[in-house]
Order: sequence, then C-alpha cells, then structure tokens
Amino acid sequence: MPPPIEPPAGRLIGIGVGPGDPELLTLKGLRAMRAAPVVAYPAPLEGASFARTIVAQWLDAGQREIALRFPTRPGPPLPEMLYDAAATTLAAALDTGADVALLCQGDPLFYGSFIPIWARLAGSYRTEIVPGVSSLSAGAAAARFALVRGDATLCVVPATLPEAQLEARLVTAESAVVVKLGRHLATVRAILLRLGRLDGALCVERASLPDERVLPLAAVTADVAPYFSLALVPHR
Ligand SMILES: C[S@@+](CC[C@H](N)C(=O)[O-])C[C@H]1O[C@@H](n2cnc3c(N)ncnc32)[C@H](O)[C@@H]1O
Repeated sequence: MPPPIEPPAGRLIGIGVGPGDPELLTLKGLRAMRAAPVVAYPAPLEGASFARTIVAQWLDAGQREIALRFPTRPGPPLPEMLYDAAATTLAAALDTGADVALLCQGDPLFYGSFIPIWARLAGSYRTEIVPGVSSLSAGAAAARFALVRGDATLCVVPATLPEAQLEARLVTAESAVVVKLGRHLATVRAILLRLGRLDGALCVERASLPDERVLPLAAVTADVAPYFSLALVPHR
C-alpha cells in the first residue's frame, strides 16, 4: 500500500496589526487574518494579548487561537528556549495543513517578537509577511514630527543598549528615535542633556491609543516611561 498522502503544510503569515488603533490595521492584514484558520499571537504569562486586543472585533469564533505566552517585558532578553517552544507549537499547527496568522503589534520586522519565531520556521515552511504601521510612524504622526527630509538620516536606537553605546550612537545621529524607553527614561534624558539635545526632544506615550500623550522630554519628571513609549530627537 502506498503511504497516505500528507496535506501540504500551511503557510506562516506574519501580520503587523499596527501600533494600537484598530483603524491602523491594513486592509491586507485584515483579509489575511480573517482567512487564516489559526490565529496566533504573543501574550503575557497572564492576561490579554495586546496584538489580539487590536483585532478582537474581527476574529471569528471558528478560528483556532494560539496564545504564545512570554514573560512580560521590560527585562533581560527572553531566553531562546521560549522562542524554540513557540516555534514548535506553531510548527505543529502548520503540519496539519492550516495556515497560521501570527499577529505582531506594529510592524513584524521592526523589533517584532515575530522575528525570532519566523527565523526558526522560515527554512521549513512557506512564509508571508504583511507589513504594519510601526511605532516609528505612529509616534511621528502623533507628535507632528518630520522624521527625515532631504538628505538627512535617521538613527533608531533601543534604550536598552548599555549607556556608553547609546550615547555613542546619539552623538553622531542626525534625527533619532529612541524606542524601548521604559525604565531607561532617566538615562536617555541625561544623555540628551549632556549632548545639548534635550531641548526639542519629545516623548510619545501610547501613540494612536485613546490615552496617547506627547510631551517635551525635558518636562517628563518620571524616571520610568510606559512600555509603549518612545523619544523623538530632532536634527540639530
Ligand atoms: C518590542 S518593540 C515592538 C515594536 C513594534 N513591532 C513596532 O513596529 O512598533 C516595543 C517598543 O516599540 C515602541 N512602541 C510600540 N508601540 C508603541 C506605541 N503605540 N506608542 C509608542 N511607542 C510604541 C516602544 O518603544 C516599545 O517599547
């Protein structure tokens, strides 16, 4: 007897769901998500997934959902074994022949937790990526901040870098965006003050969400910023 014919494996579709406002989900992302029999998303160890919350109104009860649980950030980089486990879970779903939509807040390829999972699966499965509106775009729009114009360059840095490295990058940067501000807010503020670049720098919290705030960074007295916040530093 010939062996039974296995169904072809499903596709992994990374979908950027945007910075928070459901209206910033793309039409393509919405269509791809609704067509997928399985919808996966990162979630904290307990509680709701932010990526899922953004698209909740369009999920169908017939779709299988997979919450990939990770310890809440901020903190040290996640152990690689957590991404191994997430990839194994998704591989099992893909092996049934089902397409799996993996939701990612913002854009999947901009500091997305999608990247390490995709890297583990891309060699074995067909993959597609639907870009999303990143926090970079949403933060700039919230602050009415022109990121770059003409021949200028933009430096994007995570505040999680060691202080000396962060400062070295900001010394040479024209325009800059500092993501992952969180508990590094005071350090970033001190570096920009030393470099004479605090004036004009802005802090954007929760861009595109109802409680969005845009403040001069110099006026933010707290030492810790919300998880969803970034700093915009204008060209000198
Ligand atoms: C792990 S990165 C994910 C970025 C996401 N993939 C994107 O495209 O924006 C998380 C960081 O992005 C920034 N971020 C994401 N969404 C944001 C928002 N709505 N408002 C301000 N910053 C945001 C914050 O700096 C946050 O610490």
